[in-house]
Amino acid sequence: MNTAFPTQTSERTWWKEAVVYQIYPRSFMDSNGDGIGDLNGIISKLDYLQELGVTVLWLCPIFTSPNDDNGYDISDYQGIMADFGTLTDFDRLLEEAHKRGLRILLDLVLNHSSDEHPWFVESRSSKTNPKRDWYIWREGKNGQPPNNWESIFNESVWEYDATTDAYFMHVFSRKQPDLNWENTDMRAALYDMVRWWLDKGVDGFRIDAISHIRKQPGLPDMPNPNGLATVPSAAGHMNIDGVMDYISDLCANTFAHYDIMTVGEANGVSVDQAPAWVAPDARNFNMLFQFEQLKLWQTDGAHGLDLAHLKQVLTRWQKGLEGQGWNALFVENHDIPRIVSTWGDDAQYWRESATAIATLYFLMQGTPFIYQGQELGMTNYPFTELEQFDDVAIHNLARQRREQGWGEEDILNSIRDNARDNSRTPMQWDATRHGGFTTGTPWLAVNPNTRHINVASQQSDPESVLSYYQRLIRLRRDHPTLIYGQYDLLLEEHPQVFAYCRTAEERFIVLCNLSDSPADLEHTLADFADAQLMLGNQTGGRPRSLSILAPYEARVYRIRPD
Ligand code: GLC
Ligand code: CA
Repeated sequence: MNTAFPTQTSERTWWKEAVVYQIYPRSFMDSNGDGIGDLNGIISKLDYLQELGVTVLWLCPIFTSPNDDNGYDISDYQGIMADFGTLTDFDRLLEEAHKRGLRILLDLVLNHSSDEHPWFVESRSSKTNPKRDWYIWREGKNGQPPNNWESIFNESVWEYDATTDAYFMHVFSRKQPDLNWENTDMRAALYDMVRWWLDKGVDGFRIDAISHIRKQPGLPDMPNPNGLATVPSAAGHMNIDGVMDYISDLCANTFAHYDIMTVGEANGVSVDQAPAWVAPDARNFNMLFQFEQLKLWQTDGAHGLDLAHLKQVLTRWQKGLEGQGWNALFVENHDIPRIVSTWGDDAQYWRESATAIATLYFLMQGTPFIYQGQELGMTNYPFTELEQFDDVAIHNLARQRREQGWGEEDILNSIRDNARDNSRTPMQWDATRHGGFTTGTPWLAVNPNTRHINVASQQSDPESVLSYYQRLIRLRRDHPTLIYGQYDLLLEEHPQVFAYCRTAEERFIVLCNLSDSPADLEHTLADFADAQLMLGNQTGGRPRSLSILAPYEARVYRIRPD
């Protein structure tokens, strides 16, 4: 630990210093009692977000949509979903956010549109329509789909359309036909739309499912299509050679001309490939959401965090992009279950594990993202019936398993802990029945634990998860070393503790016990004996023992350079 202090490797920019808060608008705040969150609801909570300390808001899709996949199926890219409000409401949201120093990222869905988008309505109308080629159409083979690819939402990627006796491709649901990126008119239309939002003053984008826009030429059958969403090599539609040409074309025609933040959702992209996507001189995206860490909680059922593997994956991305790009740091989003219920312990060590996980990811090199409710330690929902799920992906999966002869109970057990709806239940603002989210009936049930996990009670409790997030955000803001400093893994072999240091002008050590038993630090203590404790998650403020980390204890020390 006594290597010379390296100097800063990264150029300073606002989006590296930012803390992003992801809003799932449908579930954030309902302003008019119809049970659905909306833009005016978001405006009413801007002060809350400002006080939390975040500086950028990413809104999941707010555009006109028939809501097959909750807004990820867009039928008008320049209109606002009626449930959420109007374009005037959006303009006011942008203005009110900017007044408070909060920037806004929109969610760009460029891999597919809704089947109700006028482009697709035209495209399906005849084989000679000028927009026919804006989507991916093929003839069937002997009455069967054109190939054996499976969609990420658990069915064939092909949907038959009787109008022209042909099939169209959909990598997600059958109401999300894939746009054909080989068609340059189609691309130009998307770019116009992107520039229209940028000229309106939005501050950037999260770019949805962008590693899927290129398909394997010739669309050949794949050897093992089952489960291809998690087997990159098997997929004909994920991170296919040549996808970078489309990305560069998109960026050069849009983002490159604005001072904005961009983060691409990049399933299948490896750390070795990542610099092409995010290196500053490539002028493509600023950051990527990588998928490698996502599989880690599922290793052995209920409580399966594989710590050794987690250290490997996160460290590989930290070191892999060092001096070459910038990481997007996240542990939750609207597609995965709640982290305190997966990597953590949502029962006995709920508060401790929520704050330990926060400490672990937040102080690495990169821009941290917080998903709504994560800052309260919101948990998975106690689902008891299949009818309680809303997600189209879950309904497809349940149907598939029924066809394979599974019983209802087994289906429920197989999806309960993994379902996306776990993180989509409404935000828990207070202890009332619907959590203060709506005065009506919420579109998806509020978790009954809103009685004790909610904003109102945590705001007045200095030891709450919420107060801890506030301290964490301020600590990072006040110490550029925690943003730009070099990352190095410590205690590599420790079976319970994830530890690392950050080094630039200052040096910090982050220690997190990710287990439910005490962790011995004895042999390493000498290294930071006169360090200053900057943050810790034990109630009462102080660690009970210097040499032992309590279950899920986290500490951040600062060491002064000599
Ligand atoms: C992304 C989104 C997810 C959506 C899918 C299709 O993975 O995060 O919610 O269902 O793309 O647009
Ligand atoms: Ca509403």
